[in-house]
Formats: sequence, structure tokens, C-alpha cells
Amino acid sequence: MSTENMPSRPGWFAAFRNWISIAGGVIMLAALFSFLLLFAMDLMAHFSNPYLGLLTYLLSPAVGAFGLILAVAGAALERRREPTAGLVTAVKIDFTSRKDRKILGIFILSALAFIMLSAIGSYQTYHVTESVEFCGETCHTVMKPENVAYHNGSHARVACVECHIGAGTTWFVKSKLSGSYQLYAVLVNKYSRPIPTPVKNLRPAQGTCEQCHWPSKFVGNLDRTFYYFLNDASNTPYSVRLLLKVGGADPTHGPVGGIHWHMSVANKIEYFASDESRQKIPYVRMTDAQGVVTEFRAGKFTNTVSQANLRRMDCIDCHNRPAHRFATPVDAVNLALEIGKIDRGLPWIKTNAVWALAQPYTNTDQALAAINRTLAGRYPGDARIEGTIAAVDDIYTNNFFPEMNTDWRAHPGNLGHKDWPGCFRCHDGEHKTADGKRIIKANDCATCHIILAQGTGAQLLDLSATGKKFIHPGDEIPDGYLCSDCHNGGP
Ligand code: HEC
Ligand code: HEC
Ligand code: HEC
Ligand code: HEC
Ligand code: HEC
Ligand code: HEC
Repeated sequence: MSTENMPSRPGWFAAFRNWISIAGGVIMLAALFSFLLLFAMDLMAHFSNPYLGLLTYLLSPAVGAFGLILAVAGAALERRREPTAGLVTAVKIDFTSRKDRKILGIFILSALAFIMLSAIGSYQTYHVTESVEFCGETCHTVMKPENVAYHNGSHARVACVECHIGAGTTWFVKSKLSGSYQLYAVLVNKYSRPIPTPVKNLRPAQGTCEQCHWPSKFVGNLDRTFYYFLNDASNTPYSVRLLLKVGGADPTHGPVGGIHWHMSVANKIEYFASDESRQKIPYVRMTDAQGVVTEFRAGKFTNTVSQANLRRMDCIDCHNRPAHRFATPVDAVNLALEIGKIDRGLPWIKTNAVWALAQPYTNTDQALAAINRTLAGRYPGDARIEGTIAAVDDIYTNNFFPEMNTDWRAHPGNLGHKDWPGCFRCHDGEHKTADGKRIIKANDCATCHIILAQGTGAQLLDLSATGKKFIHPGDEIPDGYLCSDCHNGGP
């Protein structure tokens, strides 16, 4: 009747007492330990990063799961054994035996060493993923355009994660998820070329830009000179010196007004963009300190817009290329001519260089070969072309990335209004309230800046404190045209 003394299959619990299961257990422990360490680091980190999430929430659990599978597999093997065979392979430790004690000691020491090493390993991996090198260079071709532009920009000493993730825990999970997806997309070669902008899950500027820049700081007026060269045989220079009324956004630091007025804490400006790249804005809503709402609509746009489709304007709606500016060929060639890298003595060089840069090419090597051939062919026997070719090649490698279809055409800049609508997305004179009040119009040039001087040579020394009327170097600008209807940064 009694089966107590009969050999039987081991119970599930006992079945785990085999070496395979114990090894699985140690792996699980190591994974748990690494997970806790990474998790704690992630919570404490001032700026977290998406790849840390990959380690914490994907890799550690995966290793843990592997340990679990190993442990269960060991136990299952143990239970499938002939009952009569008993617990032959089961671990039995006889504490009175010296040999067993020694084996146990070695086992515990190596298990501890393994756990420590995996923790150190995951900590090191975390540091690698946080570095600019990792973000910018690991996915070499994918991120190359942004990485090169970043190193040329004014934020070259700001780590990628400080703008792309920012501080705090709310964006934690969001960035984890998108970081994991990005890695997956790169692994299976599913990413789009160019990488699309705007970056939808970019954290609002309060959490990034405003950690370093004082949004309310009174900037005052900025004096900027823009250098141009015309498309004629003598590459005629023409400069415009602007005084930009950047102003400020907080009355405790100076008068509120000017361009940074949009960021005033007292106002809220929200808008609806009808396209993915936020270039078409048919609806703008302004809420002032008293809570009075003013709606501006463009042209025939009469739809009601739900709150969910509105975006609150912040720094990135104007400064959308603070770290990755892909210069237009016109801007880049103008600058190179101004500083003498391109020789202005070469007839038509402005036109030719811009044209050569803007042609469609399949890869950088082919592009450079074609550019060099074109330019050398246009100026045969002219020794000055050599340095100029080097300068044009330099412009190309820093601003054009045919492998990723990335150059100025892929990423509109919103700061001004010459080559893209920029400010004129709202300030085009088309946006008005039901009773006809308009947002400051494009031709109210002096609201945003005055022209201190323009032209060339001595003309640039003749400054006007009240501002000059813009003399357009082309023909007179026809009524109703925006600059970007004709200018696009290319030939
Ligand atoms: C000063 C802040 C800042 C820093 C630092 C920064 N970025 Fe960006 N990045 C941005 C902004 C702003 C955008 C564009 C967002 C938009 O238009 O919605 C962007 C866009 C991107 C895009 C999308 C494609 C594109 O060109 O618009 C990629 C990829 C990118 N950044 C990678 C990086 C990498 C890699 C680094 C570090 C080498 C880095 N970023 C550093 C602010 C920054
Ligand atoms: C970690 C700090 C940090 C963060 C975050 C940061 N910046 Fe900056 N920013 C700087 C530094 C440093 C400079 C360079 C100042 C100098 O050299 O005078 C700078 C310069 C600038 C300039 C002036 C130079 C130029 O390129 O025109 C602008 C505009 C600017 N930042 C906008 C932004 C915007 C927009 C963001 C958010 C997307 C941002 N910054 C995020 C530190 C930061
Ligand atoms: C309505 C568009 C707009 C918004 C919104 C905006 N800016 Fe600006 N900002 C400008 C313009 C235009 C300039 C001057 C243009 C230039 O640099 O050539 C400027 C200049 C700056 C400068 C350079 C000051 C200097 O001394 O060189 C910094 C820094 C800056 N902005 C930071 C910010 C930050 C941070 C935010 C968000 C809190 C912000 N801006 C929001 C349009 C804007
Ligand atoms: C809503 C404000 C606003 C209005 C209105 C405006 N501008 Fe501008 N303009 C700007 C800003 C901001 C920049 C600076 C862009 C930058 O820093 O790159 C600029 C830049 C320029 C430049 C240099 C462009 C470049 O990128 O090379 C010229 C020239 C210019 N404006 C002329 C005019 C003229 C002429 C008018 C009137 C017909 C006008 N602007 C109206 C805001 C404005
Ligand atoms: C999303 C729409 C939008 C964009 C984009 C935009 N603005 Fe504005 N801006 C407004 C609205 C709305 C007002 C307030 C209405 C008014 O005063 O006409 C305003 C007001 C202003 C004012 C007057 C501020 C004051 O002192 O009262 C200036 C200057 C200005 N904008 C410059 C710019 C410049 C420069 C840019 C581009 C860099 C720009 N804006 C881009 C919507 C926009
Ligand atoms: C109807 C088309 C048209 C419009 C609109 C227009 N431009 Fe032009 N622009 C031209 C032409 C054509 C030239 C002459 C090209 C040349 O000789 O370089 C030119 C030349 C220029 C140049 C010097 C060349 C260079 O390197 O870019 C500047 C600066 C300029 N325009 C600014 C503006 C600004 C700012 C606006 C808006 C306020 C504007 N343009 C509107 C057609 C236009």
C-alpha cells in the first residue's frame, strides 16, 4: 500500500536540484542584479538615454529569461529520467566531505564573480551608449549627416542625449521605446533615407534647450551681416547688414517684445500644421495673459481644429536646426567667396559652383569626381581653380550626404524666410481673424529687423539708424510674392 519507499519521479521542486538548473539560476541572478543596477542608474541619471533602456528592459530580461529556460529545462530533464534511476544527477552536498565543501566553495566564488562581471559589463556598455561617439558614429551611415553637421555647429560640445532625451522620468519610457525601435529599424535596414524631421517625439524645449538657455533672457538687438554674390560674370558682391529685434520674453529681465515675444510666459501661441513637415500652417491661436483667445485663419481654411492637433510653439519652431544645419549651396558658396576660399576672380564661379553642388549624385565619391571634372573643365589652364575645387569639395562633404538623401532640401530651416517660408508660415499677411485683423505681415519688414546698410564697399559704411528700404539685387519683387517663391537655396 505504501509507496513511500518506492523510487519515484522527483517532485518539481526537487527536480531543480541539478547542475543545469543551478547554472540557470545563477544566470538569472546575474541578470536581475544587472537589471537593478541599470534601473537605479537610469532613475538617477540627469540625462537618460534610449540605449540604456535597451540594456535595462530588453537585454537584462532576455538574459534572465535564458537563465529561466535553462533552469526549467534542467528540471524537465531530471523528471524525465527513469524513476528507478532516482536522483542520480541531482546535486547532493555532503557537508562532512572535504571534497564537496571545496566544490561548493569554488562554485559560490565563481557564481559571485560571474554576477559581478555582468554588472560591470552592463555598466560599461551603458557608458558607451551615452557617448556622442555611440549616438553619432555607431550607426555610421545612418547618422553621418547629423553627426557631421553637429560637429560643425555651435552645439558641438553638447551631448546628443541632452537635446534628444533631456532630463526627467516622463520621457524615459517614450525614449526607451523609440530608441529600441530605431535600433531594430537599423538592424533590419528599414530606416528611411533621409531620417525624417520633425522629430515627433522630441521632448518639449523646456526639458532640453531651456536647461541651458534662459528663455526669458533679454537678448536685445542682434547685428548680423549676410554676404551675397550675384549670379553674374564678375560675381558682384552684395551684403545686407541687419539689426534683428530679438528682444526678450520676461518683464523682469527687460522689455517684452520683438522676436522672442512668442516665448513670453504671458502668451501662448498654438498652431495647426496641415503637412508632416510643419511647413503649411493654416491656423494659429493666441491666448493672452487675460485668457482672451484670438484665432487667425489663412485663406479659405474654416475647419475647426481639435486641441489634440495643435502644437504649442516653442524654441524648435524657429530654431529647428540648432545642431544640424545643412547649408544651402547658395549660402555655403557665398560664405566661401566672402572669406576667400573660393576665388572671386574666376568668372561666373558663384553660378558654376552652386550648380555643380546641387546636381543629383548617387554617392560622395561619384559626386566629388563629377564636381571636380565640371569645374576643371570650365576653367582650363587656370591655376586658381585648384584651391577653389578643394573649397567646393569641402562644402560638399560637410553638407551633402547622397547615401542618405540628406542635404538642405531634406531639412527646411525655419529661422528666417528667404529659402523656406519660415516666419512667413504665419507672417505672410494671409492669416487673419474673423474681423480682419492680421498677424504682422511679411512686408512689415521693420517689425522684425531694420536694414542698417546694404550693397558693397563704401556703401556698407553708410549706416542708417532708422533702417533703409531693402534694395533687392534682382528685379523689383512683384506684389504678393514671398522670397521663398523664387529663392530655394539652390541654382
Ligand atoms: C542643441 C540640441 C541638439 C543636439 C546637441 C543634437 N541634436 Fe539632433 N536634433 C535637434 C533638433 C532640434 C532636431 C530637429 C527637430 C525637428 O525639426 O523637429 C534634431 C534632429 C535630429 C535627427 C533627425 C534628422 C534631422 O536631421 O532632422 C537626428 C538623426 C539627430 N538629430 C541626431 C543627433 C545626433 C546623432 C546628435 C549627436 C551627435 C544630435 N542629434 C545632437 C537637436 C539637437
Ligand atoms: C547642454 C546645454 C545646451 C542645450 C541643451 C542647448 N544649448 Fe544652445 N547653446 C549652448 C552653448 C554652450 C552654445 C554656444 C554659446 C557660445 O559659444 O557662445 C549655444 C548656442 C546656441 C545658439 C546661438 C548660436 C547659434 O547657433 O545661432 C542658439 C540659437 C541656441 N543655442 C539654441 C538652442 C536650442 C533651440 C536648443 C534646444 C533644441 C539648445 N540651444 C539647447 C548650450 C546648449
Ligand atoms: C519666433 C521664432 C523664435 C522663437 C520661438 C525662439 N527664437 Fe531664439 N531667436 C530667433 C531669431 C530670429 C534669433 C536671431 C537670429 C539669428 O541668430 O540670426 C534668435 C536668437 C536666439 C539666440 C542667440 C542669441 C545670441 O546672442 O546669439 C538664442 C540663444 C536663442 N535665440 C534661444 C532661443 C530659445 C532657448 C528659445 C526657446 C525658449 C527661442 N530662442 C525661441 C527666433 C526665435
Ligand atoms: C516676421 C518677421 C520678419 C519680417 C516681417 C521680415 N523679416 Fe527678414 N528676416 C527675419 C529673420 C528672423 C531673419 C534672420 C534669419 C537668420 O538669422 O538666418 C531675416 C533675414 C532677412 C534677410 C537675410 C536673409 C538670408 O537668409 O540670407 C533679408 C535680406 C531680409 N530678411 C529681408 C527682409 C525684407 C526685405 C522684408 C520685408 C519685405 C523682411 N525681411 C521681412 C524676419 C523677418
Ligand atoms: C506659428 C505662427 C508663427 C510663426 C511661425 C512666427 N510667428 Fe511671429 N507672431 C505670431 C503671432 C500670432 C503673433 C502675434 C500677433 C501679432 O502681433 O500680429 C506674432 C508676433 C510677432 C512679433 C511681434 C511681437 C510683439 O512685440 O508684439 C514679431 C516681431 C514676430 N512675431 C516675429 C517672428 C519671426 C522673426 C518669426 C520667424 C523666426 C516668427 N515671428 C514666426 C505667430 C507666428
Ligand atoms: C520673383 C522672384 C523673387 C522674389 C519674390 C525674391 N527674389 Fe531675391 N532674387 C531674385 C533674382 C532673380 C535674383 C538675382 C539673382 C542673382 O543675380 O544672383 C535675386 C537675388 C537676391 C539676393 C542676392 C543673391 C543671393 O545670393 O541670394 C538676395 C539676398 C535676395 N534676392 C533676397 C531676397 C529676399 C529677402 C526676398 C524676399 C523679401 C526676395 N529676394 C524675393 C528673385 C526673387
